[in-house]
Amino acid sequence: MASEKISRVGIIGAGQMGAGIAEVCARAGSDVLVYESTRELTAAGRARILRSLDRGVSSGKLTEREREQATWRLRFTSDLGDFADRQLVVEAIIEDEAVKTEIFAELDRVVTDPNAVLASNTSSIPIMKLGMATEKAERVIGMHFFNPVPVLPLVELVTTLMTSTEVSERAEAFAHDVLGKQVVRSADRSGFVVNALLVPYLLSAVRMVESGFATVEDIDKAMVLGCAHPMGPLKLTDLVGLDTVKAIADSMYEEFKEPLYSPPPLLLRMVEAGRLGKKSGRGFYQYG
Ligand code: CAA
Ligand code: NAD
Repeated sequence: MASEKISRVGIIGAGQMGAGIAEVCARAGSDVLVYESTRELTAAGRARILRSLDRGVSSGKLTEREREQATWRLRFTSDLGDFADRQLVVEAIIEDEAVKTEIFAELDRVVTDPNAVLASNTSSIPIMKLGMATEKAERVIGMHFFNPVPVLPLVELVTTLMTSTEVSERAEAFAHDVLGKQVVRSADRSGFVVNALLVPYLLSAVRMVESGFATVEDIDKAMVLGCAHPMGPLKLTDLVGLDTVKAIADSMYEEFKEPLYSPPPLLLRMVEAGRLGKKSGRGFYQYG
């Protein structure tokens, strides 16, 4: 029997990616339940989504009525048990394998639909590691969105050796037909397609700063004006989050042992100093 069309979505985490994914799902008409662990994080996540919806209205992409409707479709919880009836869950918490595997083990116990899609938005962690934390690895898949989610039209779909065809087709139909995203498929290797190409480039830019080869501003200006990139690599590292870039590099290095994936000392020191980029107010640039 064919699975029902997905209309009940759960998002784990309301950081920059979780908030963006929740927003696009609500705008597309889904009933969206968002998990954050504390009241403070929930308030911050809700505010992040509302700010982005406001921005949609002020830039003319959304009417006031559409903003209201999207808001009504969003609910928040700090109890994963509330995810029992979800047909699709997208996990978007920090890039930490131990934390993610714990969440997948719990989701597996809670979500009742045997054909539910349990997706991770991980940037780099092999999806099989998350699948094997569950009893039903056939439900587990990678759905990798891009930052900012309301703007960038891509989802990388990552199936494992265990993902069922039905789950993979359901995930692709949701990303493409409901959210209007373009889908590319990747094998289950750390970094998938985009980050396997992008992260060595970002790390090379950090190494250039570290060695005094050129200034932060000149490196970014060079790539914006010389290659028509929308932003330079250091501003992009700030946007992604230096902690996240480091975690992605660690995971890719663990998989391939290639020196080009190894995070440079400057990146490590900045993460240790709490200079995480735009989200913490300071990275290679100062914000706010
Ligand atoms: N939410 C909603 N809309 C947003 C937005 C957000 N957070 N940020 C920007 N926008 C919209 C704006 O409303 C604006 O729309 P209009 O043109 O219709 O007015 C449009 O996007 C452009 O925004 P701005 O004029 O404010 O700024 P900009 O032109 O400098 O663009 C940017 C900002 C969209 C971030 C652009 O610089 C960009 O695309 N940068 C590259 C981002 C990128 O490479 N992301 C991928 C990161 S890697 C990743 O995500 C994977 C991973 O695992 C790490
Ligand atoms: P973020 O720092 O903005 O948000 C992190 C989220 O994780 C928050 O919801 C936070 O409450 C939660 N969290 C933190 N510690 C936790 C813990 N110990 N247990 C449970 N939850 C915890 O990060 P983000 O940029 O939204 O990244 C989230 C995921 O999306 C990561 O897997 C990242 O690799 C991936 N991703 C990030 C980008 C990007 O550009 N930042 C793009 C694509 C995918």
